[in-house]
Amino acid sequence: MAFSPHDREMMKLALKEAAATSCPSPNPRVGAVVTDSSGHILSTGAHWGSGTPHAEAAALDLIGPAAQGGVLYCTLEPCFGTWPGKKQSPCSEKVVASGISRLVVATADPHPRVSGQGLRFIEQAGIHVETGLLATEALELNEGWFFHSRHNRPLVTIKSAITLDGYIADPTGTSQWITGPEARRRGHELRASVDAVLVGSGTYLADSPRLNVRDVEGEDPQIVVLDGQLRTQPVPGTGLRTIVYTQNAHPPQQHNNRQAWLDAGAEVVELPYKSSSAGIPLVLQDLGKRGIRSLLVEGGAQVVSSFLDSECWEYLELMMAPKLLGGGKHWCINRPEARLQNAMDLADMKVEHRGEDLVLRSRRKTYWPWDGKEGLQCSLAL
Ligand SMILES: NC(=O)c1ccc[n+]([C@@H]2O[C@H](COP(=O)([O-])OP(=O)(O)OC[C@H]3O[C@@H](n4cnc5c(N)ncnc54)[C@H](OP(=O)(O)O)[C@@H]3O)[C@@H](O)[C@H]2O)c1
Repeated sequence: MAFSPHDREMMKLALKEAAATSCPSPNPRVGAVVTDSSGHILSTGAHWGSGTPHAEAAALDLIGPAAQGGVLYCTLEPCFGTWPGKKQSPCSEKVVASGISRLVVATADPHPRVSGQGLRFIEQAGIHVETGLLATEALELNEGWFFHSRHNRPLVTIKSAITLDGYIADPTGTSQWITGPEARRRGHELRASVDAVLVGSGTYLADSPRLNVRDVEGEDPQIVVLDGQLRTQPVPGTGLRTIVYTQNAHPPQQHNNRQAWLDAGAEVVELPYKSSSAGIPLVLQDLGKRGIRSLLVEGGAQVVSSFLDSECWEYLELMMAPKLLGGGKHWCINRPEARLQNAMDLADMKVEHRGEDLVLRSRRKTYWPWDGKEGLQCSLAL
């Protein structure tokens, strides 16, 4: 499909509107632009979070009848129908009622209740519909959201701050701080971009982390603690929006810890799992059911290794400080059968300087977000 340079410019603007909304989870980031038939911008809109108007509705409401005959650019297919819990009326009906003559959409909505029906409804009403403009950019903007809708589990990013020789803590367990303030700020950017952040009980006990967003704008993520034996208690002042996963048969003497978590407002979830890589899919499945679409794993070494071995992860971000420690806790655990021919392959490594430190970001080589089913189903007309 041939889009004009003006179409691209308008969709870029709609994407910019969407990007300004940080993380309106559980909903996706969506932006919209309305122009008149000669291409002049009439209004823009974005979706700012659950319970607020959808982007295209916001843009159309701003101009009312002036939309007649115009063009609507939208980063996501307008929604269709209603269902329990849906707070907004169907945008596809609003689009038809607005009188626009052309709709340009970046990606279809993979939601099973929408999934092309919004586009079909609008097309059947006589509006010219085109899809797939800057689809990759729109998918990237909502990668966790698209991923979750296909896999029913969150998109996982593993993050560790390490020395140049690969340690995350010295032999006493001290890890604060390995990297400098600029790299730590990147850590907070990551937290602000996800629905939840996860640590193991070892880290929780060693660092008493608050796991909130500091130094950057953004919502605090939910907190997830993997604690098979229920050895932890909440850090004072935390506990709300926290999920603690523990094994079914945690020791009875840990009853006080359980009560402390419950008193602090946390949820304690018992799963029939061992504290190993085998437990990771169970945890992710449960998080997916709770609507957690993106997850940042902040360690420590055992939990990171479990995620790596489970292959249930998509991105790895290592923040590497120009320090040689010479001993301590390595960022992941040695695999007894490690052989070069069996090494885990990563791809698309991006390198960025943050102050004195390096940030290395790469994806699991077997995870390819856009060429596979995710991209096609979401970006092409259905
Ligand atoms: N530099 C950094 O970026 C960074 C980040 C985080 C932590 N750290 C440091 O890392 C150290 C802690 O690392 P760690 O390896 O000892 O602890 P960890 O990985 O944080 O926690 C390990 C514990 O989590 C529990 N667990 C529950 N489910 C698990 C699963 N599926 N897989 C693995 N473990 C599971 C296990 O205890 P149960 O058997 O009782 O369930 C296990 O002993 C601390 O010194 C901390 O300061 C550094």
